Amino acid sequence: MTQRVAVVTGGMGGLGEAICIKLSGMDFKVIATSSPGNTKSADWLAEMKKLGHTFHAVQVDVADFDSCAKAVKQIEAEVGPIDVLVNNAGITRDKTFAKMGKVDWDAVMHTNLDSVFNMSKAVLDGMVSRAWGRVINVSSVNGQKGAFGQTNYSAAKAGMHGFTKALALEVARKGVTINTISPGYIGTKMVMAIPKEVLDSKIIPQIPLGRLGKPEEVAGLVAYLCSEEAAFVTGANIAINGGQHMQ
Ligand code: CAA
Repeated sequence: MTQRVAVVTGGMGGLGEAICIKLSGMDFKVIATSSPGNTKSADWLAEMKKLGHTFHAVQVDVADFDSCAKAVKQIEAEVGPIDVLVNNAGITRDKTFAKMGKVDWDAVMHTNLDSVFNMSKAVLDGMVSRAWGRVINVSSVNGQKGAFGQTNYSAAKAGMHGFTKALALEVARKGVTINTISPGYIGTKMVMAIPKEVLDSKIIPQIPLGRLGKPEEVAGLVAYLCSEEAAFVTGANIAINGGQHMQ
């Protein structure tokens, strides 16, 4: 069988990198996207190569519709039709609502939610026409339960799952599954940026496992959703949060 092609947005760090490594181990051709102007992508590709992983890299502003359309065309021309899209790119602009400005709201909504529309729009017709596809939207426990200081992020992450459910219905008979995963607090740069006293006193005590998650644990879940065995899983929101929030 020809190798399938997977695109992981925000693929060069944190969860994205772990997802790229896992999918490459499953014999996908993997394209990691980074934001325009990212000067570290050549170094990252070289570092990954040393570890035995050959990835492709494309720059795309996931918040911008035209940039996504252009990047997808480039990937299709240079690598091949896209079978898997992992909408992983995301940012935080944490502030209490009293201090949050429109600029903080817009940045998070554009990067974390508009991006899901922009990238899915660019790949979906192709998946449907080939009768096989996987879209995985990387949401958050904070989209399920809310988080202090994250009205913007929680809204965008909750919005992702509404998108997942609606689109899953539309393409259920076309061989394309659409799912959300909702990781809890994982030991990435984003989480380590939380003030240490907040992490230690307010967040870790809420996690029954008593620790942060590992990026590889989340990557394992993404890998399952990309597999043939997961063909019957669609429109789901799968929690992976150490027991922090149970629905
Ligand atoms: N729950 C309840 N109260 C909290 C709280 C929490 N999680 N965090 C802060 N507070 C309280 C503080 O104790 C403080 O109370 P007092 O005034 O009574 O002392 C009050 O809120 C103000 O707190 P700060 O001084 O910290 O206010 P600030 O304006 O400097 O910072 C903040 C506010 C930016 C929200 C900061 O508290 C923060 O960064 N919190 C962490 C937010 C968070 O969890 N982000 C998740 C990022 S990781 C991620 O998003 C990945 C993922 O998907 C899981």
